[in-house]
Amino acid sequence: MQYGHFDDEAREYVVTTPHTPYPWINYLGSEQFFSLISHQGGGYSFYRDARMRRLTRYRYNNIPADAGGRYLYVHDDGDVWTPTWMPVKADLDHFEARHGLGYTKITGERRGVRVETLVFVPVGENAEVQRVTVTNTSDAPKSLTLFSFVEFCLWNAHDDQTNYQRNLSIGEVEVEQDAPHGSAIYHKTEYRERRDHYAVFAVNTHADGFDTDRDTFVGAYNSLGEAAVPRAGHSANSVASGWYPIGSHSVHVELAPGESRTLVYVLGYVENPDEEKWADDAHQVINKTRAHALTSRFATTEQTDAAFDALVTSWTDLLSTYSVRSGEPKLDRMVNIWNQYQCMVTFNMSRSASYFETGIGRGMGFRDSNQDLLGFVHLIPARARERLIDTASTQLPDGSAYHQYQPLTKRGNNDVGSGFNDDPLWLIAGVAAYVRETGDLAILDEGAPFDNEPGTEVPLFEHLTRSFEHAVTHRGPHGLPLIGRADWNDCLNLNCFSTTPGESFQTTENKAGGVAESVFIAAMFVKYGEEYAQLAERHGLPDVAARARGLVEEMRTATMEHGWDGRWFRRAYDFFGNPIGTDASDEGKIWIEPQGFAVLAGIGIGSGPDDVSSPAVQALDAVEEMLGTPHGLVLQYPAYTTYHIELGEVSTYPPGYKENGGIFCHNNPWVAIAETMVGRGDKAFDHYRRISPAYREEISDVHRLEPYVYAQMIAGKEAVRAGEAKNSWLTGTAAWNFVAVSQYLLGVRPDFDGLVVDPQIGPDVPEFTVTRVARGATYVVSVTNSGARGSRATLVVDGTPIAGNLVPYAPAGATVHIQATL
Ligand code: GLC
Ligand code: GLC
Repeated sequence: MQYGHFDDEAREYVVTTPHTPYPWINYLGSEQFFSLISHQGGGYSFYRDARMRRLTRYRYNNIPADAGGRYLYVHDDGDVWTPTWMPVKADLDHFEARHGLGYTKITGERRGVRVETLVFVPVGENAEVQRVTVTNTSDAPKSLTLFSFVEFCLWNAHDDQTNYQRNLSIGEVEVEQDAPHGSAIYHKTEYRERRDHYAVFAVNTHADGFDTDRDTFVGAYNSLGEAAVPRAGHSANSVASGWYPIGSHSVHVELAPGESRTLVYVLGYVENPDEEKWADDAHQVINKTRAHALTSRFATTEQTDAAFDALVTSWTDLLSTYSVRSGEPKLDRMVNIWNQYQCMVTFNMSRSASYFETGIGRGMGFRDSNQDLLGFVHLIPARARERLIDTASTQLPDGSAYHQYQPLTKRGNNDVGSGFNDDPLWLIAGVAAYVRETGDLAILDEGAPFDNEPGTEVPLFEHLTRSFEHAVTHRGPHGLPLIGRADWNDCLNLNCFSTTPGESFQTTENKAGGVAESVFIAAMFVKYGEEYAQLAERHGLPDVAARARGLVEEMRTATMEHGWDGRWFRRAYDFFGNPIGTDASDEGKIWIEPQGFAVLAGIGIGSGPDDVSSPAVQALDAVEEMLGTPHGLVLQYPAYTTYHIELGEVSTYPPGYKENGGIFCHNNPWVAIAETMVGRGDKAFDHYRRISPAYREEISDVHRLEPYVYAQMIAGKEAVRAGEAKNSWLTGTAAWNFVAVSQYLLGVRPDFDGLVVDPQIGPDVPEFTVTRVARGATYVVSVTNSGARGSRATLVVDGTPIAGNLVPYAPAGATVHIQATL
């Protein structure tokens, strides 16, 4: 069952009913001002930090879900309704929500009145703009009153929810009904003391009335759906003093049959330097100059439309770096539009604000940031560079890394600390991807401190060396890397041994002296150790490269000797040195992470797809047999049915959820990439499709979350609700799937010295063309694909056959035509 459809031409998903199983959201903004918006107009806005600078309020765990947003109430001759359906929930004759790239357009129609609201954050502005067009679709004149509504949050979203005894006395607003470009309401709580910022909510016409006090507008004991002022049909002109400040304008509209009127609302964030805070000497009236400048840029519909066009163009430019035409619409729409879009949103938000992340919690993850970068480095290389330096600057001198850092301060987070022994190696992954994309080897000389301590700067390459050495010097009895608090799997806590409710599995180490080792980190070391060696070579350090390669070989051997279980790779060794992920166990026999990562690192690869004696083929076959489901590959099998104190959080989840046998989408693409390594493109594409949102659109009633973006997890085969997704939007899944599909299945990937063309997607996509801009040149890669297992492309470059699959980089500005046949 579906709740809408894709409009690929417009690059939109069109939700055609308000009754989706869960609010389906979108993100507005890509610089400093951000909004979340659901298909029902729910969501909130913030400036830079979802916790510290929250502009509008959102209700968590609310009944009904998705309460709080930007709403417009229509009063039509006593009939009150909201075109976003929420919050009034009056039946609509027509409903449509179009989620596009950086904008959402919601249209509702009832009793001959159609209201279309386009919401976006213009490029270069700290504001959400709402363009509202009201049309009389009936054949009689209409006399309507429109009531806008936003509820202000008292800035610190955590404090706002917890500290009522103070907060209910501090709310302050100013109202400017005769503002230069219409009417405006200012939310200025705490501006009288230390804040240098306020919010403005304005409309580009003279409002007939206003409200700023929530209880007046809504009425005591009413829900937002029963708001008193829209029902009464006229504003109360209330001025908030403490309690709950809101912004609402009422505008009376007379429309002849067929007539339309457009209004523009702006919700903006304004910062004033200290000496310019006030308009008067008594410090009673805020300085509105910057707010007026903002509203002057959206005083007309034409200005607003031009800003919208600029936004659309900016996305067109951004997405032109990589595109495919394959004749397979679901593949094209994921690659060209939605997967890359999700990568950008993940870059902007990290893991902070979604309908599953409250925006008041965690900071940016060290490993998450480096992996996210793999998905956007081709789009915004300059910002990727900046992020790499920021991330490296939180590294500790011994090569270990804070697990998280705070985006505003860019400092490591002491509450979570370090000791996740996979973290350091991800820095090599990020830097190598950046250098392959850009050729910017100079970044290796860029100075970055340790632990943000001024004076400790060393070249970035030295940070990579410390990352590499950290793994070398933290090996256990089998020569495999010690796991520390956890590796990629945050819930595999082998030194934790927790019996205390609420204790963090990630930060607790109740037992010392263990020897828990990770086969997954071993595989990472083989992969990123080699990438480190390649960087060392290009950095003029052949001896460093040679030594690194020696250590990589040692690890490869240790992985086969102690990490191989007979039919698949083991997962780890526990505190006591017992294997995890072995056929000898009843539960948790086989885990996905080491199978995918060992093979994609090139461990155990034999002579190709038919070499059934090779560990790679055996491991991948075992994955399919034991972890496969119609909804993707589960993380391990069988899931743990009871709590295992020696394993930690992984065994706390009910079977089939999250790390305990859920389909953790993040690592499915590792297996897809691994399949391309052994030459089984058909299987790679199969794995790709099972978790791809567009391919799951028809089962939206089972999947339940947005069919245009990946979710972190789909409930596994042992779960009560198998196939149901959770935690959409902010997940490393986006980056890794883009890497898998663009670089390995479609097979076009930047390497240090040229573009590799090596598609492996199986017979279902017989012909396709990839257009890739790399280092300023454009490569048009036309592929004719038999899809036969084990076949590799032969290349003709600008009419000349070449040996191998590496196309040397062309000068910037050039266009190179590549014909690939396999
Ligand atoms: C979450 C974390 C990520 C971790 C994964 C598996 O997605 O953000 O860092 O690797 O879970 O535990
Ligand atoms: C929990 C989640 C895991 C996440 C971790 C860190 O353990 O299950 O997915 O990575 O928290 O936030």
